[in-house]
Amino acid sequence: DMGGHDTYMHKEIAEQAEAVDRVLRGRIDDKFATVHLGGLNLDPREARSVRRIKILGCGTSYHAGQIGAQLIEELARIPADAEPASEFRYRNPVVDPDTLYVAVSQSGETYDVLAAVQELKRKGARVLGVVNVVGSAIAREADGGTYVHAGPEVCVVSTKCFTNTVVAFALLALHLGRIRDLSVADGRRIIEGLRRLPGQIDEILKAEPEIKRLALHFADAKSMLFIGRVRGYPVAREASLKLKEVSYIHAEAYPASELKHGPLALVEPAMPTVAIVPDDELLEKNRAALEEIKARSGRILAVAHQEQEKADHTIIVPKNEDELDPILMGIPLQLFAYHTALALGRDIDKPRNLAKSVTVE
Ligand code: M6R
Repeated sequence: DMGGHDTYMHKEIAEQAEAVDRVLRGRIDDKFATVHLGGLNLDPREARSVRRIKILGCGTSYHAGQIGAQLIEELARIPADAEPASEFRYRNPVVDPDTLYVAVSQSGETYDVLAAVQELKRKGARVLGVVNVVGSAIAREADGGTYVHAGPEVCVVSTKCFTNTVVAFALLALHLGRIRDLSVADGRRIIEGLRRLPGQIDEILKAEPEIKRLALHFADAKSMLFIGRVRGYPVAREASLKLKEVSYIHAEAYPASELKHGPLALVEPAMPTVAIVPDDELLEKNRAALEEIKARSGRILAVAHQEQEKADHTIIVPKNEDELDPILMGIPLQLFAYHTALALGRDIDKPRNLAKSVTVE
């Protein structure tokens, strides 16, 4: 049942405020400015002894894991990184007893992720799952973890589950941070930010008519560049994947800082750029990148917290805490991908050549 929407993708984008509400519900502990994650299966002493966190997932779940790794480093100061599970399992990785492994999957059935988990467990590693489908293979195989509570996601292209997975990582990061050295004040700041998310998501979704207009404006592009820096980079990668999957327009994501090391050569009027420009400590650096693109007559669509003078168009999103901004900044670009695909007459819920869960090698 699409509840009045023309596609599951549109329905699932529209459901994100309630989905985020669901992942937060019952988990916040205001007294200690922390969160409780029931099934984690990691006591405080174990949580304190983790030296490193390695996050494994594929596609959109991998991108959610990249933001998750940044959240864990920022809030819990534990070195963390994400890697495609599909790469990890083929490279005889060093499995370190002080590393906590986290497997991320919407379906919980992705074979590359499951195989990585099984190999890790065989070698005695501790593996947590951040999974949407309850009781799925990866959820069962993991030592513990947390459910993402996005609800059923039908469209092959993941939207609401991405958002909820990142929120679940914010909860995990906050939990680990408050066991280690995140202050009560910072814990409160993050909790208040998390509580603002559902209202801010609805605010972003109200801009749909404007986003649709922009999508029609850029739908003739053969290729698009997506750029962002640090917190904005995984957002750019995910937005680029969304556009590719659903519209079949070629899109490439690059760290804004790497533009001058190569991709600037591509910039010309026929190659538009989508730039993620949060109001954080890197704002001036990002503005300089926009200037570089403008000087080469590149068309720019910015997603930002305030109007960007160098951009041809700016989609303004509400500001949250710096650490949580990536959760919001990709949402308008889900609608951008959707409306581009709609304008091009694509099969939105079932893009060619793709399956909802890849249960084979
Ligand atoms: O079910 P999973 O999260 O494990 O799936 C992983 C990827 O196959 C998936 O995210 C894929 O990239 C989607 N089509 C993204 O929209």
